[in-house]
Amino acid sequence: MVVMGGTHILVVGNEKGGSGKTTTAMHIAVAIMRAGHKVATIDLDPRQRSLTRYVENRRHWAEMKELEIPHSTHRLIKLSDRESVTARKQDEETRLAAAIAEFSQKHEFVVVDCPGSDSALSRAAHSYADTLVTPLNDSFIDFDLLAQIDPETFKVDGPSLYSELVWDSRKSRALRDHGTIDWVVIRNRMSSLNARNKERVGDVLQALSRQVGFRLGAGFGERVIYRELFPSGLTLLDLRDEDVDITFSMSHVAALQELRDIVALLRLPNLVSDPATG
Ligand SMILES: Nc1ncnc2c1ncn2[C@@H]1O[C@H](COP(=O)(O)OP(=O)(O)OP(=O)(O)O)[C@@H](O)[C@H]1O
Ligand SMILES: [Mg+2]
Repeated sequence: MVVMGGTHILVVGNEKGGSGKTTTAMHIAVAIMRAGHKVATIDLDPRQRSLTRYVENRRHWAEMKELEIPHSTHRLIKLSDRESVTARKQDEETRLAAAIAEFSQKHEFVVVDCPGSDSALSRAAHSYADTLVTPLNDSFIDFDLLAQIDPETFKVDGPSLYSELVWDSRKSRALRDHGTIDWVVIRNRMSSLNARNKERVGDVLQALSRQVGFRLGAGFGERVIYRELFPSGLTLLDLRDEDVDITFSMSHVAALQELRDIVALLRLPNLVSDPATG
C-alpha cells in the first residue's frame, strides 16, 4: 500500500519513443529542486536507462568540476525475471509502489520517467500520477497517440490507445484514493520554420484538449542545446552559474522562458520561487 501523504507525483509519459520524456523529466525535476524542494526521480526504462544516465552524468560532472548543484534521490526500477506474466507484473508493481512509498517520506515531489512503449510498469505509474506530463513531437504524425484523426478534415474520429490508457489510469486513481490526474500535453521540438503547420497543429490540439481531457502547454522549441546538455547531466537551469563549455545565447534565454512557462502551467503545489532565478 502506497502512503503518499503530501508528496506530489509527477509522471512523464507517452507511448511514442523519442518525444522528449527524459529531457522534460530532468528539466522539471531540476526546476523543482531549484525552487527549493526535495525531489526523487524514478526511471522506468531499464533498457535505455536514459534518466539514470542523465542523473549519473550530473553527479560525475558536479564532482569533477566541484559544483554545488542540486541532485535528486534516484532509482531505476528493474524488470522482474519471474516466469509468468502475472508474477512479473505483480513483482514490478510492488517495486514501484515500494519506491514511491519510501521516497514519499522524505521528498515533496517524485518525478517518474516512463519508457516510450506500453508496459505494466508504465501503466502502474500513470495510476499514481497527480500530474501527468505528455511531451508530443510537434507534428500530425504523433497525434495518433492522442486520437484518431481524419487525415483530410482533421476531425477527431475517436480516442486512441494512449488516451484510453490515461482514462483507465484516471479510473484506477479515483478508485484507490478518490484522487484526480491533471493531464498536461506539451508540444516539443517546435520549429519556427513552418509557421502555417505550427498553427494548424495548435488548432487541432486545442480542439483535442477539450475532447480528450488534457490541458495544453506552449512547449519547447527545437534546439541543439538539449542534446549538448546530456553528457554533463546539466539542464538549461544550471547553465548560468555553472562551468560548462556552452556559451549562453539568446536561444538559451528563449528556451529558459519556455521552460519557465511550462513549469508555471503545471501549477505544482507550493512552488513559489521562480526556478530560473532560484
Ligand atoms: N526540444 C528539443 N530540441 C532538440 N532536441 C531534443 C528536444 N527534446 C529532446 N531532444 C533530443 O531528442 C532525443 C530524444 O529525447 P528524449 O530522450 O528526452 O526522448 P524520450 O521520449 O525520453 O525517448 P524514449 O522514448 O526513447 O525514452 C534526445 O537526443 C534529446 O536530446
Ligand atoms: Mg526516455
